Amino acid sequence: MGPFTCLIEREKPSILVVDDLPSNLELMEAVFMKEGFKVYTALGASDAIEKFQSCPVDLAVLDVMMPGIDGFELCCRLKDISRKRFFPVILLTALSDRKSKLKGIESGADDFISKPFDTTELLMKIKSLLKVKSLNEDLDHSENIIMTLAVAMEARDPYTKGHSSRVSKLASDFVLYLGLSDKDHKEMNKAGILHDIGKICLSESLLRKPGPLTREEVEMIKTHTILGEDLCRPLVSMRKILPAIRHHHERWDGMGFPDGLAGEEIPLMARILSIVDSFDAMVSVRPYRDRRSVRTTLDTMTSEQHSGQWDSELLSYFLDMIGSLVTKGYKVDA
Ligand SMILES: [Fe+2]
Repeated sequence: MGPFTCLIEREKPSILVVDDLPSNLELMEAVFMKEGFKVYTALGASDAIEKFQSCPVDLAVLDVMMPGIDGFELCCRLKDISRKRFFPVILLTALSDRKSKLKGIESGADDFISKPFDTTELLMKIKSLLKVKSLNEDLDHSENIIMTLAVAMEARDPYTKGHSSRVSKLASDFVLYLGLSDKDHKEMNKAGILHDIGKICLSESLLRKPGPLTREEVEMIKTHTILGEDLCRPLVSMRKILPAIRHHHERWDGMGFPDGLAGEEIPLMARILSIVDSFDAMVSVRPYRDRRSVRTTLDTMTSEQHSGQWDSELLSYFLDMIGSLVTKGYKVDA
């Protein structure tokens, strides 16, 4: 066995095949190995879960009718273990009725194939799901790189360190508080981290300039909204958050930037970000002042609720949420 055997082995996509009949496992193992896949076999659900947790599996083909934990339940569990990672599952079933398919979809299955299976069809489905998985992973990598860049960028400055993570956490909590969807919650999580990513294109001396800024410098800083949108645009997974990045400095009265949008013309996610961004800036230490207490910040924002900066209705919900968090002992992280 050569020193690179493991690497070569890992490059082959690996399939976990689960069935309660050894003869079915042998048959599928032979078919998949002939196609160049690495194959892990499991006789039943508990064996499958163990293999799934200890081996690098890319896709699973599960028999539905198994004693004990059936294929539907096993599919749920594998999806649960893989959490955010896209893990494709094909259910192999003798049942072709609508009810089983619906149950399969409910359990998170990505495709179905009926027994006795057509080898070509099964292999085609496997290859296409593996392609989707690989695209997803590429996307994850690009997303992680840009997220890491955002955090690294603000860590250069002690006064902004942690700002985007706090905004992301608080804004996505607020999204849930407002009763918006899980999808909106996830998008807000990303938008919070990336809202100021455009600053990466601006010089550090400008961002850290202590004294008053010239009009040109102010205009330059304002471009971070558009620069951020431009930076994130090539990533398909960022498309939904582009408006939040571009418009997080718009004002309800239309006096903000970059487009001077007013009222409900401003996307909801941007209106939320604007409130949370201001809140975090107020409770954070700045070169020219100490940290303000949450209570003082709430009072300031309440008194300025109708100043035209924010969506006042949204702000009142935000103040309620922070108020109730304060009662529960909420503190702003350093
Ligand atoms: Fe900003």
